[in-house]
Amino acid sequence: MLNVREFIEKSLKEIEEIVHGNKVISACSGGVDSTTTTFLVHKAVGDNLIAVFIDDGLRREGEPEFVVKILKDLGIKARFVDAKEEFFEALKGKTDAEEKRKAFRDKFYKTLGKVAREENVKFVAQGTIKADVLETVKGIKTQHNVLEQIGINPEIYGYAILEPLKELYKPEVRMVARELGLPAEISERMPFPGPALSIRVLGEVTPNRVKIVRKATEIVEEETGNLGTFQNFAVLHSDKATGIKNGERVYGNIITVRVVISEDAVTAKAKRVPYEILEKISSRITEEIPSVVRCLYDVTHKPPATIEFE
Ligand code: XMP
Repeated sequence: MLNVREFIEKSLKEIEEIVHGNKVISACSGGVDSTTTTFLVHKAVGDNLIAVFIDDGLRREGEPEFVVKILKDLGIKARFVDAKEEFFEALKGKTDAEEKRKAFRDKFYKTLGKVAREENVKFVAQGTIKADVLETVKGIKTQHNVLEQIGINPEIYGYAILEPLKELYKPEVRMVARELGLPAEISERMPFPGPALSIRVLGEVTPNRVKIVRKATEIVEEETGNLGTFQNFAVLHSDKATGIKNGERVYGNIITVRVVISEDAVTAKAKRVPYEILEKISSRITEEIPSVVRCLYDVTHKPPATIEFE
């Protein structure tokens, strides 16, 4: 069992020693891991920290505004980087899941490298946790924030990396967040993957396809938000299906809804969501998103599936 206070004290000391009065940037997406990391580093180095929110065009509805507000409320200096076009360019034409993940990772680190040069900093903090490292090292999937553990020296991007949470699992990160006094909207937040909606758009990632999955995600979150589950989301398929809209045949998009129960994301169970809720989600998604003709529910546990589709 983690002794949270000891962990925080030890981490603060370590961060101070490594950073040694220099400036640091922290990649903050607004998720539990990266916001807890950002807050911890801020506690250690104060105004020597600049949080960086990269708008990659792949976030959920309202997310950029949410993160900017949270950082402001926490009193942390922040920079907003609009890199939407660059991320879409990097993902253009890519359909393979691992190729997409690697393209995202490369663009993510390069964007941070650019900010690090502009701010003249040597250190970048990020919210890598134990599960990210394990899955990448095992070759299950390339998490966007794992480099050193698979033999890539981050100095190729021009900086050293600080990962104060890399030995913790998600429930422990939440404990640290609570102990640090972060608001519940952060400490209890649903996990969201670093590569964001890019791994929930199967096949090529285009602004239009992201828009479809973003809207479907919003509907799923609205309808399942009070189930107390670990993760609830929508996935857009790369293949199509036949349907009927306004009396006419439409060869349209397919959305899968996924709602899982889990402690630490290492294993997960598909939630037995009440059928009425599933029906409502299906009606809303097919009515509110014109191109979608079919809505499915994924009943597969992890393993053999993973939580995300890619
Ligand atoms: P999987 O799909 O491997 O996901 O069962 C386990 C947990 O990790 C999240 N996930 C990621 N988080 N970067 C992240 O920060 C990533 O590249 C990434 N891929 C998956 C996923 O949402 C789930 O909570």
